[in-house]
Amino acid sequence: RAELGQAVKVKPEATEFTKVWQRLRRLPVSGPHLANPPTVIVMVGLPARGKTYMSKKLTRYLNWIGMPTKVFNVGEYRREAVKNYSSYDFFKPDNESAVKIRQQCALAALRDVRSYLTDEGGQVAVSFPSSQHLNLSRLYLIFFIESVCDDLDVIASNIMEVKVSCPDYQDCNKTDAMLDFQKRIECYKASYQPLEPDHYDRDLSFIKVIDVGRQFLANRIQDHIQSKIVYYLMNIHVQPRVIYLCRHGESTDNLQGRLGGDAGLSPRGKKFAAALARFVEEQKLKDLKVFTSQLCRSIQTAEDLGVPYEQWKALNEIDAGVCEEMTYDEVKEKFPEEFDLRDQDKYYYRYPAGESYQDLVQRVEPVIMELERQENVLVICHQAVMRCLLAYFLDKSADEMPYLKCPLHTVLKLTPVAYGCKVESIYLNVEAVNTHRDRPLEYSFKAVTR
Ligand code: G3H
Repeated sequence: RAELGQAVKVKPEATEFTKVWQRLRRLPVSGPHLANPPTVIVMVGLPARGKTYMSKKLTRYLNWIGMPTKVFNVGEYRREAVKNYSSYDFFKPDNESAVKIRQQCALAALRDVRSYLTDEGGQVAVSFPSSQHLNLSRLYLIFFIESVCDDLDVIASNIMEVKVSCPDYQDCNKTDAMLDFQKRIECYKASYQPLEPDHYDRDLSFIKVIDVGRQFLANRIQDHIQSKIVYYLMNIHVQPRVIYLCRHGESTDNLQGRLGGDAGLSPRGKKFAAALARFVEEQKLKDLKVFTSQLCRSIQTAEDLGVPYEQWKALNEIDAGVCEEMTYDEVKEKFPEEFDLRDQDKYYYRYPAGESYQDLVQRVEPVIMELERQENVLVICHQAVMRCLLAYFLDKSADEMPYLKCPLHTVLKLTPVAYGCKVESIYLNVEAVNTHRDRPLEYSFKAVTR
């Protein structure tokens, strides 16, 4: 890498060989294959125990770290097969015709799991229990996640928050929906068998999540993916909270359109720092944590807040390598091939002696984990880093990530809701330069058709 960086730095009119080598090194590629063999995650537990919540959240995380993951929710197959849900009768163990339909749905879901993992490049499939899972264990690693919870208040609030508004109950009032769902849970109880780490299930790989994360029991963790999943599940929580993301105030380098560097704030950047302090005070937050990068402009922006802040090197801006502190025009002039390669696939493109967005995702992963653990947090970071964080919270693809709009002097307020995140964009009324560069039109079409 160092040699390549030097070659580009010293000799921009590189030889044919160097050019070919550069192309080979940084031509758009697909993500690394991280799971071998692929993994099937089986979500276990009675209804309203947060299985859908965990599976969606885990899927978002695994996709974000570059591991293609998809949820195969048997409930959705059932809704497709039986368009009009009438009542919990459908789930009674002695309802033979319904049992048949549910078995067919489970088979259809498993067929889709197989084709996703075998033919479509999927690395992790999240599914729900079925007797057919034994067959899958010959092809894939099976990892069970069981959610156990007997707290009636937690169960009732889960039903209220997500179940009564699900398509099954679209023509039903909330009280009737709640009663029906509780009876549905009773139907499942007839056949539900919790995982038994000391007996039948001692050889299986699984994690039991007890009382929404109060306690965990991990059994036979087989590989780094399972260990990542365990670590992730141990860090997430469901307490209400808010995450604020913003960039540093406008810097003197921003005024000249320079990439990276370590410049201080411009006069307008300083105004933003003061406006941010007022904004934070108005939010009247309990125990706000503040994270900055270790770069001058981010630290200066936090100074006016008058609260302690943590300086994370992992939040530093993308390293533009040999292009650091150049303007886009200068990069285009000095390294036209590099400029074009980056436009071709901005997520995977790595600056010579610098980083790619893909590298950045790996770098900020510990920050994501910490954000999951914390409650109210304000992160003052940089354009590329903020895009990576935002892509995680809003479930944006690797292709969309490098073009997410994160303007200067604008705070994004993220509030977790049901299965996702609500985002509000708050402009703090201090003008700033626009540093966003759109995807060039000639590459937009390719991105849409990908
Ligand atoms: O200096 C770095 C920029 O903030 C990154 O923006 O990835 O759109 O070039 P870019």
